[in-house]
Amino acid sequence: MSLSRRQFGTAISAAAITAAYGRPGWAQAPLVIKLSHVVAADTPKGKGSIKFKELAEQYTGGKAKVEVYQNSTLYKDKEEVEALQLGAVQLLAPSTAKFAPLGAKEFEALDLPFLFANDDQYAKVLGGDVGKYLFSKLESKGITGLGFWDNGFHMITSNKPVITPADLQGLKVRISGSKIADQYFRLCGAIPQILAFSEVYQSMQTGVVDAGENTPSNVLTQKFYEVQKHITIAQHAHLQYAVIANSKFWSGLPPDMKAPLEKAMAEATAYTNDIARKENIDALAEMKKFGKNEFHVLDDAQRKVLRTAMQPTYTWAEGRVGKEVLDILAKATAV
Ligand code: LMR
Repeated sequence: MSLSRRQFGTAISAAAITAAYGRPGWAQAPLVIKLSHVVAADTPKGKGSIKFKELAEQYTGGKAKVEVYQNSTLYKDKEEVEALQLGAVQLLAPSTAKFAPLGAKEFEALDLPFLFANDDQYAKVLGGDVGKYLFSKLESKGITGLGFWDNGFHMITSNKPVITPADLQGLKVRISGSKIADQYFRLCGAIPQILAFSEVYQSMQTGVVDAGENTPSNVLTQKFYEVQKHITIAQHAHLQYAVIANSKFWSGLPPDMKAPLEKAMAEATAYTNDIARKENIDALAEMKKFGKNEFHVLDDAQRKVLRTAMQPTYTWAEGRVGKEVLDILAKATAV
């Protein structure tokens, strides 16, 4: 990948700052930290990123300057992880469905259908051993995991009603990258297609795809509701992000920068996870008010039918993500 000047920018590495500390003039230069993401500002991740920027700049007394690039303005889905490894961007918050290119397929286990019973269980599982285990898988890749940010359960958007697995038969469904999602939609007879987030609206508008899965805040802010007639509250899978840093950058931070940045990240993480549920409830209410869509809320029996159709994904997943992560997840979700 070749990086444009804008993408590489003039970010000063932590090592350079460390080396320059004490030198007149240089010591005053703020440390530029680029945080790139693909969603709109008015979403849990968008707001969490801004919160981190505010807190980081405040806690470092202006010694750090955080540049937030939202809505794929700096990188699209696939480019961003490569840019992080190259050190062209210091922080990212990709959905865990997009971690396979980093060599950490285990993250895709979080996409298993009907994995989490509810928001509380999700938070408990990611806050415990599962979260620690997944972050340990990043260490050898030059990536440091800093926190998990929530964005709630997926809905299915489509150009025809989707109530039963049979309704998905033959539908071209946009997925974001996970082979687990590919598998559970295939089991329903759909034709999954991986597309970058920034390409979804147009692909739905022009019929390149017939359907997609996403959370209310993403469907609202990307205006997918304009180009999809039906919205099914299926809650069949969960969308979460792992906030990650380039390890060389993060571990090279001088102590007087690292501590305030860690504090800023911990607080931004708590804030994001606190607002995620309400952001999605509000987004759904807003779309209902627009009156452009037909909403279908799956009842328990309908969810059970979908769950049964998608269930073989669990056996299939062993070959993709490995037994270890599946066992850890099974244990964590059993309580
Ligand atoms: C998607 O591609 O649908 C999501 O991963 C976008 C996001 O970051 O929420």
